[in-house]
Amino acid sequence: MKQLISKLDQLADLSPRETWRLVKGRLPVLRNRAGWTAMDLLGSPKHRNGIRFAELLMRQEAILDRQIGWKPLDFDGARVVEIGCGPLAGYGPLAIFRGAASFESADPEWDADLFDSESIARKYLYVMHADLVALYGERMDFAAFRSALRDKITVHRSGFDTAHLKGDADIVLSQSCLEHVFPLEGTIAKLADIQRRKTRFLHLVDFGNHYLTENPFEGLYEQPPDVYISRRGKAINLLRSNDVAALFEKHRIPEHTVPSRIVGEGYPGAIHPWWRERYDDRALFTQLALIAGPAC
Ligand SMILES: C[S@@+](CC[C@H](N)C(=O)[O-])C[C@H]1O[C@@H](n2cnc3c(N)ncnc32)[C@H](O)[C@@H]1O
Repeated sequence: MKQLISKLDQLADLSPRETWRLVKGRLPVLRNRAGWTAMDLLGSPKHRNGIRFAELLMRQEAILDRQIGWKPLDFDGARVVEIGCGPLAGYGPLAIFRGAASFESADPEWDADLFDSESIARKYLYVMHADLVALYGERMDFAAFRSALRDKITVHRSGFDTAHLKGDADIVLSQSCLEHVFPLEGTIAKLADIQRRKTRFLHLVDFGNHYLTENPFEGLYEQPPDVYISRRGKAINLLRSNDVAALFEKHRIPEHTVPSRIVGEGYPGAIHPWWRERYDDRALFTQLALIAGPAC
């Protein structure tokens, strides 16, 4: 009952449209029925804020610089690949504005017509362009920006593991995607195909429950992961940061795994022995981690 009240409280903080998407994402029967609309995206504080990708990158690069001496990514002339860019091409517009030669991604939810629509151009890309100019200078005007996005961005409407992607990527990125991929190993094998030793990569993985609960892991550890997934649907794969790191190592991609948020206090439930037998507290309570390499 307490859990139900806390979930209803969280829903009360969201707009009706966001509530509907959240509910839809959690109910296996409804998931993937209807795609994104411009109204959904422009009504979402998260999605309509395109400059968030620049802010995320600045924060993540600052953490990596402090921890492993990371040098900022150089997009000029680069072939950039993103796993699961989302409906507004994720890091694509930022990469192209900063001079990338191409940006490729794969996302099962991709809708090319939606991204190319006038309302997304006017209400999303136009504002984002203004913010990019303020941050990085007048590299191109809005008309040139839009035409570069058309020419240089390719997004495959499929899972990353099956997408026909070109190899020799210079930069590979993902933002809150790897925790949603079932099974993850095919995607890491695909990275091993398209990356070279000098390919720089940066993945932010969110290991929390993806609800706005007081404790970000609430509900996750009371049962083994297969039981949680069978109840809630295939929304998060419940791999922990050391599992993801192990997959990179298995596919011979040397990586640094840098926790960027550990919430060690206040887990409200009883932790099932399945978790205790396999993970220490650091692995269980790392909510956000950066999986990255090489540092320069
Ligand atoms: C939480 S969203 C993040 C989207 C985007 N990166 C962002 O930060 O806005 C997770 C994304 O992963 C995508 N996804 C799930 N499984 C995938 C797969 N196998 N390959 C590529 N993308 C996938 C989903 O369609 C969704 O767009």
